[in-house]
This record gives sequence, structure tokens and C-alpha cells, in this order.
Amino acid sequence: MTDKIKQTDFHQNIKNYEEILADFRSRLASVTSHGTPSAAEKHCSRGKLLARERINLLVDQNTPFLELSSFAAYNQYENAFPSAGIITGIGVVEDRECLILANDATVKGGTYIRETIKKHVRAQEIARQNKLICIYLVDSGGIYLPEQANVFPDRFDFGRVFYNQARMSAEGIPQISVVMGSCTAGGAYVPAMSDETIMVRNQGTIFIGGPPLVKAATGEEVTPEELGGAEIHTSVSGVADHIAEDDVDALRICRNIIVGLPVQEKQKLDCQPANEPLHPAEEIYGLLPSDLKKPINAHAIIDRLVDGSEFQEFKTNYGKTLVTGFARIWGFPIGIIANNSFLTSESSLKGAHFIQLCVQRKIPLLFLQNITGFVVGKKYEHGGIARDGAKLINAVANAAVPKFTIVIGSSFGAGNYAMAGRAFDPHFLFMWPHSRISVMGGEQASGVLNSIGSNGSANSLLQQFEEESSAYYSSSRLWDDGIIDPADTRKVLAMAISVSLNRPFEKPEYGVFRM
Ligand code: COA
Repeated sequence: MTDKIKQTDFHQNIKNYEEILADFRSRLASVTSHGTPSAAEKHCSRGKLLARERINLLVDQNTPFLELSSFAAYNQYENAFPSAGIITGIGVVEDRECLILANDATVKGGTYIRETIKKHVRAQEIARQNKLICIYLVDSGGIYLPEQANVFPDRFDFGRVFYNQARMSAEGIPQISVVMGSCTAGGAYVPAMSDETIMVRNQGTIFIGGPPLVKAATGEEVTPEELGGAEIHTSVSGVADHIAEDDVDALRICRNIIVGLPVQEKQKLDCQPANEPLHPAEEIYGLLPSDLKKPINAHAIIDRLVDGSEFQEFKTNYGKTLVTGFARIWGFPIGIIANNSFLTSESSLKGAHFIQLCVQRKIPLLFLQNITGFVVGKKYEHGGIARDGAKLINAVANAAVPKFTIVIGSSFGAGNYAMAGRAFDPHFLFMWPHSRISVMGGEQASGVLNSIGSNGSANSLLQQFEEESSAYYSSSRLWDDGIIDPADTRKVLAMAISVSLNRPFEKPEYGVFRM
């Protein structure tokens, strides 16, 4: 090992992390197994494939599917909405990287709660930011009615899905819908606003108001098939374009459509053949102390993520609480910014300088977050920490290259912002299972309350922070794009970088840097 970590700590850390991983895998299994067994049975008895089976058939064989936000809605709604009833992710279809969204009809009829919408809208955002073809595998009863006040009216609620479709279309992003089940009310606009729509015969339906609503409104009695089945929409109304005999046939037609789409210009990067790191990825577990207050050796983590463990460090001896430097991941060039303790004036200046280098050289940025915040105290305030921190935040916000953030430990306070937290629009943000995110650590928060005389609530606050800062709490609310096994980080990043090259980088522009 190149690191200074003691062998005994290393082995103890691995042992501890095995428990964390076992817990992660069992939780993941609980959210990726679709709805109740009876719902899945009913679904399959109708000749329909399960949502994940549909995705497997859609993507090219032996290519990975990067599933996003599997823990959406986890530990909420009595866990009645695994993965929030929708599967989103990036897969390769006919050699093209595509954003795929699939409703899971075994979860309350594929209906939308707040997290379903957040997940759908986030997936569209990813498609838009990375200029990815969008494929919607539709099978949904629309809004989950008891939750209507949380999902219908606001800016980023259900309507945003259709607004995004129109905006994406205007930007030339192809969108294909495959209607494999119900598609009701507002949901009808998903296929209606797509470039091309496929419907499965005797299975897919599209209507603004279903038969019960029609009967209540006008007294007209009509079957779902007569009202808006595949036959009607492909031969009478023209709402859909292609009719398929079953799920498999529909996915085949969809793949054919993708073949014919024009190939767009990609961002060119100086790529090299990929090289494995010198140390196995699983050694990362040995570098992660169970006590987040203990430091994580940023250099040792980087050694296990980058090609050949080769890291060309920038400003090694200056602002040492932030590690910056150039490397490659799977052959792609990357600029890495990793915390090695709290942020100081020097490390903030170093970070801002390094980001400018990467932007000018068109090198994507990777942020490895393990940050308790900016340094505090009279000396540092007088030294202008807020001014120097602002420079880093400015550089991060305006960096005109793709940004990727991995929370490898703590993500607390303004350090979260300076290290490309969610509000700073990183292309992707993933968390490791043990990591934590909150405005400050629980002990600090209860200390603050104690010191302002609010003694009564300090203990319960500690408990509240403990619960609310967990990676699962974050992922359940879509504050990130998912929780990943640390050993998979290199693979996930390689895919994320590749995806980000579908849209040429923007022209760099910066505002005022306070000097
Ligand atoms: N709101 C709340 N719950 C809904 C729902 C909705 N819009 N649509 C379906 N559900 C629930 C059902 O109550 C049922 O719950 P349960 O498992 O706890 O019993 C579950 O989802 C599955 O529905 P079910 O009707 O048994 O399944 P299905 O596969 O036969 O039919 C639908 C699915 C979506 C076609 C059918 O439920 C339906 O037409 N729903 C109403 C659609 C609608 O009018 N939406 C308007 C929303 S704007």
C-alpha cells in the first residue's frame, strides 16, 4: 500500500465496511424487486413483461445499464413505492447512449407520487444536459390521486414533464414513447408529445379521461380499447404511429427507430487506452474509517480510481487541505478535486485556479467530497475566508466542463456548495453508502442550539440529524442520483464521462471574482 494507513486499521475498516455493504445490498434488493408479488403476478398474467425485463430487452446485449435513484421514496409511504414506481437510467441502444424511463405498473398501477415526478424530471434534466435520446416505456395510471396536492400544481410537478418534452424537442433531442399499458389523463401527453410513438395491440391505451370518467361526465359507455386502444390510435386518431403485437415486438420497433436517428456531434477529448489502477478497487473499503470524524486519505482513494494510479498533482505543497491534479479514468482525462480536511483560504484559491485550468483545457472535473465545511475562527475571518471561498464557489458554478461529484464521506455546510453539491448542477452526483449529508454534523448542530440556550431540543436534534443525514434519506428524496458501491465508482464515472460528451462543452464565461 502506498498509503500511511496502518495495516490493523485497514483490515478493521474492511471488516466494518463488509457490514455496511451487506446492509446496502439487502436494502437495494428490497427496492429493485418491483411491487407486491400479487401485483407482479397479475401484470405477467396479462402477457406483459416487468419493467426491468423490458429495459434488459431494449438495451444492447452485454452493455451496462446505469440505473439512477433506485432508492427514491425509500422508507417513505410505508415502503409501498419501491424505486418510486419508475426506473430511470442510461443504457446503450443500437450503439447510442439513451436515457430510458420505464413506469413500473406493479407499483400502484405505475402512478406518480412526488418522488416519481422528481425522478422523471431529473432523468429528463440529465437527457437535456447530456443531449441524450429519451425512451419512455409507458405503463402508468397517472397521478396517485391521494397525493394530488403534492404532485399536481407546482413548478416542478407533473406539468414539468410535458414542458420538458417540448423544450427538449426544440433542442433537437429525440424522444420515443412505447405505450405498453395504461397512459391516462396528463400522462397521455407523454406519448402525444414524443417524436414517434409505438403502442402494443390490446394492451396499450391512451386517453385524457378513462371509461369511468367518461361515463360520469357524459353518460357514454365505452371500453378502454374502443376509447383509446392501439388500433384506434394508429388507424383513427393518429395519436400513435406504430402498432406492435406484444412487448418484445414493441421494443424491436423502438430499436429500429433509434437506428435511423441522425448521429450528433460529440465533444472531442484527448482519450488514451484505458489502464487499470495499480491497486484493486476493493481496497477502498480499507481506507474508509467507520468514524466519519477520522480523515480519509484522498491520495490513496485517487490511486484506486484512476488509470495506472497515475496522478499528476497540482500545487502539492500549497493549500494541502484540498488535493488537486490531473489523471485519467478509463482513458478519459479528468481533473480531480478532493478534500483532505476543511477548506482554507489557500485551498479555496488553489481549487479556483485548478478549475480554471481544467475549463481552459476542456478537461471534465471530478469532485471527491469529504468536507466538514470552511475553516472557522477570528484569524480566518480576518484573513478573508468568505472572500476566497466565494472565488471557489464562483469557479465551480461557472465551470463550462462536465462536473461529477462523489460524496465519499461527509458533505456538510458550505463545503457542499464549494465541492459541486446538487445546487451546483454537477452532471451526476453519487453517494457512497456510509456517507452523510446535512447542513452541519449533528453534534455541531446540537452544540449550536445549546450555546444559544435552546437546551431542550438539542438531544432530539442530534437524533434528527443522525436520521436525516444518512445517504438513504438523501437518495429517497432525490438529493443525489443514487448510492453506489465504492468499488464500482470507477466504472460509474467512466460511463458518466462518456455520456457527458454527447453535448459539446459550452464556451467558458466567468463573472466577477472578488479579489
Ligand atoms: N390513484 C391512486 N391509486 C391508484 C390509481 C390512481 N390514479 N390508479 C391505480 N391505483 C392503485 C389501485 O387502487 C391499486 O391499489 P392497491 O394495489 O393498493 O389495491 C393499484 O394502484 C393497482 O390498480 P389496479 O386497478 O388494481 O390495477 P390494474 O392493473 O388493473 O389497473 C390502472 C391499473 C392504472 C389501469 C387502473 O387502476 C386505473 O385506471 N386507474 C385510474 C387511472 C386514472 O384515472 N388516473 C387519473 C389520474 S390523473
